[in-house]
Amino acid sequence: MQERLSEIQNQAKEDLAKAESLEEVEKIKTKYLGRKAGVINEIVKAIPGLPPEQRSSTGKSANILKQEIGTWIEEAKVKFADEGRTSESKEIFDLSLPGKRKHYGHRHPIVQTIDEIKGIFKKLCFDIEYGPEVEHEYYNFDALNIPADHPSREDFDTFYLGNKRLLRSQTSTVQIRVMEKKKPPIRMIAPGKVFRPDTVDARHASMFHQIEGLMVDEGVSFSDLKYVLTLFAQSYFGQDIKMRFRPSFFPFTEPSAEIDISCSICKGKGCSVCSHSGWVEVLGAGMVDPNVFETVGYDAEKYTGFAFGLGVERLTMLKYGIDNIRLFFENDLRFLSQF
Ligand code: DAH
Repeated sequence: MQERLSEIQNQAKEDLAKAESLEEVEKIKTKYLGRKAGVINEIVKAIPGLPPEQRSSTGKSANILKQEIGTWIEEAKVKFADEGRTSESKEIFDLSLPGKRKHYGHRHPIVQTIDEIKGIFKKLCFDIEYGPEVEHEYYNFDALNIPADHPSREDFDTFYLGNKRLLRSQTSTVQIRVMEKKKPPIRMIAPGKVFRPDTVDARHASMFHQIEGLMVDEGVSFSDLKYVLTLFAQSYFGQDIKMRFRPSFFPFTEPSAEIDISCSICKGKGCSVCSHSGWVEVLGAGMVDPNVFETVGYDAEKYTGFAFGLGVERLTMLKYGIDNIRLFFENDLRFLSQF
């Protein structure tokens, strides 16, 4: 009888090794462990007919074998169940579903405008220069011919840090820093942040961006300034743009002008952006004051030059019809991702 049991053991092992599906494992289970016609049960049923000394040992061995085969069957079931899961998940893999989209960031609209303007001036052979945001009073005011009693020097018009340091309120500071280092000819623009303790509203922020421009050489004239600025405005806004120069005053230029462009939103017809005048101010400019040249040690008899300063937010707002400067700084992706 022991021989018969080890035959059954080998046969069960073989059957399970050949099984290819869960159903086949179920059949093997019925074949060996089935209550009615299971092979093991047949043995158990035959025990009473055995000689008494064999009965108990055969019973024990049959039980051990039953447990053993039971364990193998459970293992085989688990194996096929796992495979089943894998094939199931393969089935629901839908090739036609859109892929996972990668979210790429991009440059902020203000940076895009700065880059665009840098590109325009690079074509005109202007260098790109940078200066510090924490400045000495000298560069923000004195060297730019801004007298001590000028209103922009009031405590509430500039962020003072103490010890004659301040957050620069204009990028004109970079004119001085560049002229201190280099001799003419100079052609440069200087983009960067400036700071003013303005009350924040739709058109004002306490931090914004400017681009300063400076060209110095022998024989530079106001018509060069007009030419360069017209070329710039046409490149940035399009060929149809019109420009208007109005006499103005800046301490570091003489003569000075404020420059308007025909409103790009209403094409000069009049709208809320241009206060129904058809024109919007975009730039301050002028011929460099001889006092500034003297401060940096240039010969004011030999050299002339022009300077200009523009507001980057203002230009971006005009180009895209944005009516609130705060949108640039709120970091709302619904706004920023449109650019
Ligand atoms: N710095 C001036 C401002 O912040 C802008 C400006 C005006 C710059 C005239 C210039 C200039 O270079 O010539 O309002």
